[in-house]
Amino acid sequence: MCGIVGAVSRRNIVPVLIEGLKRLEYRGYDSCGVAVHQDGGLKRARSTSRVAELQQQAAAEGVASGTGIAHTRWATHGAPAVHNAHPHFSPGPRAPEGAAGRIALVHNGIIENHEALRAQLQARGYVFTSQTDTEVIAHLVDHLYQGDLLDAVQQATAQLHGAYAIAVFSKDEPHRVVGAREGSPLVLGVGEAAQGEFFLASDAMALAGVTDQIVYLEEGDVVDLQLGRFRVSSAGRPAQDGTGHAAPGRFMPVEREVRTVHAHSGAAELGPYRHYMQKEIFEQPTAIANTLDAVDSIRPELFGDGAYRVFKEVDSVLILACGTSYYAGSVAKYWLEPIARIPCQVEIASEYRYRDSVPNPRTLVVTITQSGETADTLAALKHARAQGMSHTLTVCNVATSAMVRECEMAFITRAGAEIGVASTKAFTTQLVGLFLLTLSLAQVRGLLSDEQEAQHLRDLRHLPVAVQAVLALEPQIIAWSQAFTPKQHALFLGRGSHYPVALEGALKLKEISYIHAEAYPAGELKHGPLALVDAAMPVVTVAPNDQLLEKLKSNLQEVRARGGELYVFADGDTQISSSEGVHVIRMPEHYGVLSPILHTVPLQLLAYHTACARGTDVDKPRNLAKSVTVE
Ligand code: M6R
Repeated sequence: MCGIVGAVSRRNIVPVLIEGLKRLEYRGYDSCGVAVHQDGGLKRARSTSRVAELQQQAAAEGVASGTGIAHTRWATHGAPAVHNAHPHFSPGPRAPEGAAGRIALVHNGIIENHEALRAQLQARGYVFTSQTDTEVIAHLVDHLYQGDLLDAVQQATAQLHGAYAIAVFSKDEPHRVVGAREGSPLVLGVGEAAQGEFFLASDAMALAGVTDQIVYLEEGDVVDLQLGRFRVSSAGRPAQDGTGHAAPGRFMPVEREVRTVHAHSGAAELGPYRHYMQKEIFEQPTAIANTLDAVDSIRPELFGDGAYRVFKEVDSVLILACGTSYYAGSVAKYWLEPIARIPCQVEIASEYRYRDSVPNPRTLVVTITQSGETADTLAALKHARAQGMSHTLTVCNVATSAMVRECEMAFITRAGAEIGVASTKAFTTQLVGLFLLTLSLAQVRGLLSDEQEAQHLRDLRHLPVAVQAVLALEPQIIAWSQAFTPKQHALFLGRGSHYPVALEGALKLKEISYIHAEAYPAGELKHGPLALVDAAMPVVTVAPNDQLLEKLKSNLQEVRARGGELYVFADGDTQISSSEGVHVIRMPEHYGVLSPILHTVPLQLLAYHTACARGTDVDKPRNLAKSVTVE
């Protein structure tokens, strides 16, 4: 999704800006651009191609300066096109076509009152050259500018509703960049003192290799970068109504801590793999082992120092997440209620944040997020907190993310950087974290004996080997993928804790192969979806040998009786065998309550190989972004 890099330095910072964009590339974007202060004016290059092309274009046009901003855009308002790509310029009111820019600006987020502001600015003579909400901010800053960029930005932000992180500079102040954030992340990086340099970025990862000295800007902060110094000011605390909007007010100088942050680079070697997604599927044994590395016993402190006290106090769990992370939460519900005997609700973050729900202050709010930057999940967390639910815990893959900073407690999964847009190793390691949470809560509630703890730990430690055995099924799954390649639709079935696994399998298939896929709890088939079943409809079924197996087998009969073609991932002892219209891949071992982790892996491989056969852009599927930092 959108990415920002900005800099003020005595040296040419264009290579740093471009390198920063490259580090953010894997998140997904459809256009990119860079603008600098050069020869007394503003100069920019923009492209709907990759950052590498932008780099060539900038070099060919001689773009070089110590002051500049750069951006990768994921279209929301206005199509992916050069005229909509950032940086946006404002040439001032009533400027003739092609007039030079006076203000340059990049923006992440969405300005909700952009239409009203656009109308006001048009009435003042500003001409818009894009369909973006961003251009409104550039003209607004220009309108308010009276020789002091910081003052203009502070005034402008007070008029913005919505979410934004911005970086802006003016033709009239060659060594100054001002940034501001509200609802979208923005960090400041302290560069080489001899160059007097400072950076801005939407993620510390963009600055990896340039600096590890990072300031995380807070909601409502405005930061002024000049050669040799930076200053942060704030309009006050963000509203506690879940909207995240800062209360308008006078800006006061504030201190923000400079931290040493070892942000991992977004780039990673592909090695022998064809795509990052394939690499990440095969990294799962290691990712799970790394996630379990520091887990010598089950104890609440795995989640933070104060966890014991909180786990003692809470009487329910509310899980908030989006997409694949939501499905991880949905599996966890099948663990938390029977094992820890604690009521659990799982909510899609984008719905929860606007729902008038009944808060319970004794609820443990658990957010699940790979990136830790998903706007809806962050907003849902704030909404829960605003309603008086102060006990918050996140299961997250990025230790330096906004979510980890926002939550009281955290469990960091050690999946490593996930580059492919389709989440794979993040999901299975989230499940490991959520299972540990289940066991810790069970222990605090007196429901976990020493023998049970020891057995669960043995099972967890054996997981990497068990996953490895599932990965060895790849050749059989490749053979199946041939049958899926020409299909337009597919159904996925599961029951109990494997229903969310079926949902995850369907999501994987649809997002990377573009085959329409739906998942149902198998018992729900006859209540409607069975009408879709005929010989052309492949029905993928997750069939572990659990207490619902016989029920599931009856559901499969219903499919066969309608001519549906079954593709079953069955545990060894299920006695489901291949026959006409029934294809079976046998899973190496039944894995008890942890079975959802194993059964996810073949569904990832099925989606991956089907997408490869269809020739889609597996790691960067159309219309999707890795990190969804806008609402
Ligand atoms: O970073 P998060 O885990 O918060 O992301 C949530 C979803 O956007 C993400 O899981 C998405 O559904 C993936 N593309 C699924 O593969």
